[in-house]
Amino acid sequence: MLAQKRIQVDGKIALDTQQLIGPFNQVVLDHKLLQQCCAQYWMMNKPVGVVSATKDKIHKTVIELLNPDCATDLHIVGRLDLNSSGLILLTNDGSWSSALTKPANKVPKRYRVDLAEELSADYITAFANGMYFGYENITTLPATLTIIGDRRAEVELFEGKYHQIKRMFGRFRNPVLALHRTSIGELQLCPALQPGQYRALSASEVASLTFTDQ
Ligand code: URA
Repeated sequence: MLAQKRIQVDGKIALDTQQLIGPFNQVVLDHKLLQQCCAQYWMMNKPVGVVSATKDKIHKTVIELLNPDCATDLHIVGRLDLNSSGLILLTNDGSWSSALTKPANKVPKRYRVDLAEELSADYITAFANGMYFGYENITTLPATLTIIGDRRAEVELFEGKYHQIKRMFGRFRNPVLALHRTSIGELQLCPALQPGQYRALSASEVASLTFTDQ
């Protein structure tokens, strides 16, 4: 069929038996569409009280907030806790999302954190040194904490352990009152998005979060 020039990939006649076809290539045989699936990339401002999951018996999920026409086969890139808010990414491109969450790619995630008690310089050192969590037997990677108010900090992490930020402030017996993710890598949460709103990423935003080492 290749030799007879009957196959087109993304609008071009395919001749090479070694050509790799991915899930998002358009494939046509004798003018009949065999495969067409567009990669989708969305950012959402996750509201508090909505769960980062595809299904949940009790709470509304981020997938349920999407228009059903664009929700097909989307998965969530990394998670935010039920009572956290802010930037969350959704896609149907598994290799993009796995590269983005791969620790070796060191993608920074930034959070604004409101606390019950006042902060001090000790927090900066403790976050930078890493904290040992016996339950998982891990020490957290160096994290940057910037004090931006008496009870407000910005935290930058390169990983996402279970309830990591809350547990790190827990070491100081300082409860987290609000946790909001403001950026992932270069990508900032669009300020026009109200909680629960979402928009497609531009091609340059997708490219800014694309890693060659997938
Ligand atoms: N750390 C937390 O404790 N919760 C989140 O949702 C994200 C990071």
